[in-house]
Amino acid sequence: MTDVKAAELIFICFMLLQGFVASLNCTSPTPESLVDALENNVFPKKLVRPVKSFSSPVNMTIGITVVGIIGVDEKSQILTTFLWQILEWNIEGLSWDEEECGTTRVSVPREQLWVPDINIAEYMDEDKAPKTPYVYLYNTGHVFDVKSLRVVSSCRLVIYTFPFDIQNCSLTFGPYLHFATDIRMIQGLTSEEILKESQDVLQTNGEWELAGISVAPSTLTLHGGSYSEIKYYIILRRRPVLYVVNLLIPSCFLITVDLFSFLLPPQTVDRSSFKMTLILGYTVFLLIMNDLLPVTEETTPLINVFFSISLALMVGSLLETVLITNIQCSSSQYSAVPRWLSVLVLRYLAVVVFLPRKKKSNQITVFLNPSLRVKNSSKTDISAIHLQPVFGDTPPVKPPPEPALDELRKLSRDLLAIRLQVDKHFQGSETSQEWQMIGIVIDRLLFGLYIVFIAVSFITIICLWSKHYAA
Ligand SMILES: *[C@@H]1O[C@H](CO)[C@@H](O)[C@H](O)[C@H]1NC(C)=O
Ligand SMILES: *[C@@H]1O[C@H](CO)[C@@H](O)[C@H](O)[C@H]1NC(C)=O
Ligand SMILES: *[C@@H]1O[C@H](CO)[C@@H](O)[C@H](O)[C@H]1NC(C)=O
Ligand SMILES: *[C@@H]1O[C@H](CO)[C@@H](O)[C@H](O)[C@H]1NC(C)=O
Repeated sequence: MTDVKAAELIFICFMLLQGFVASLNCTSPTPESLVDALENNVFPKKLVRPVKSFSSPVNMTIGITVVGIIGVDEKSQILTTFLWQILEWNIEGLSWDEEECGTTRVSVPREQLWVPDINIAEYMDEDKAPKTPYVYLYNTGHVFDVKSLRVVSSCRLVIYTFPFDIQNCSLTFGPYLHFATDIRMIQGLTSEEILKESQDVLQTNGEWELAGISVAPSTLTLHGGSYSEIKYYIILRRRPVLYVVNLLIPSCFLITVDLFSFLLPPQTVDRSSFKMTLILGYTVFLLIMNDLLPVTEETTPLINVFFSISLALMVGSLLETVLITNIQCSSSQYSAVPRWLSVLVLRYLAVVVFLPRKKKSNQITVFLNPSLRVKNSSKTDISAIHLQPVFGDTPPVKPPPEPALDELRKLSRDLLAIRLQVDKHFQGSETSQEWQMIGIVIDRLLFGLYIVFIAVSFITIICLWSKHYAA
């Protein structure tokens, strides 16, 4: 009895080593007979890898198609995609005759066959895609298994060039348990085929565009063994239109308005209050648009630098306006312009900003009465003799009587006081004029610097963006 059992065991072992399953013999070309044959010869052997010898690996051919790009979460660095995963392998030795069994392929429940434990290394969440219960079994022993996967995978998202960013996310397919000696991953479709197929079926037309796919086999060495893997690199390009329309263009508009507000006269407080309103508006705009901006701790996107520069420029121009308005409006209380400042600003900087000094001196001579200057020297001592030319119409022949002379002296004192006052006024007015001139020159100069700074920083940012986008 035991001999028989031992013989049976030896026979089974021999069968396992010689051939995993023999070719099936159907009694008639009907599903029932095929099912009978499968149930007797194939399904009971789902416990081990379908190979004739333990030393030969199962060749697992894999292909994927990207069906949807559901979302990219910059904050948690997660990419969500929807894929079709196609696995193909052979059950060694299995075959049946098409004539005899009536078909070349049959769908069988996944549970009835040995299926590989192919997994994605970047999985971050469970797969919520609908499960497919069947696989195709061909009469050559070929197994064809298509599954849909909702892949929530970790991906290192680089948002430096947001919204002109391109992401490169990897999906690594490999067996969870089996070493490379047991399951060998083989790339099925080429990257061009995957890309073309994916672009044909891609259903989401959202923010992300599938720009490319590349495939590379790789080996992971871990736990003292090596795993065979296939790595897919999914290249995603963001469609920037939404962000350009909602963020960049309004921002540029506000900066342009700020730029043009330099044309308002700085003498009044209008310009500064106008700029203040602009800054307020810009702050509100940034608050509203904050939700659209991605956030990570790692890098600051260039667009945030752009907004910061814009805000800094607005604040800077407001400060400049306050300074200039102060110079323009309260310069009459200032002391005289220091010589060096006058020379520096009015002689050199004025030329730099194309505001020649000539214009300034014209303006001043209009206000200054030259006759006053001529008479300046005569004011030290006033006597009757000196007064004579002033009151030229009085007859000089005989000296006036004493009361009249007193009256005249009094008059002369008054006149002198008035003239001193007027003189002082014009003196102050001259200082004020000079200060105002300095204010105008500085205003022009800072306006020029403002334009240069805007141009340089914006061109730099645009260059960085286009460089990254083209790469
Ligand atoms: C099917 O029949 C052939 C001979 O006709 C035989 O060699 C083979 O072992 C049979 N297969 C099974 C699974 O019984
Ligand atoms: C797997 O492929 C290799 C070479 O491509 C081949 O030598 C080997 O026999 C294949 N194994 C199976 C089980 O088909
Ligand atoms: C994506 O990243 C991988 C690994 O870092 C790299 O080999 C590959 O060239 C990258 N692809 C693109 C298009 O940048
Ligand atoms: C006018 O008088 C003031 C002081 O009284 C003097 O500083 C100034 O140089 C004089 N101007 C001229 C043109 O003589």
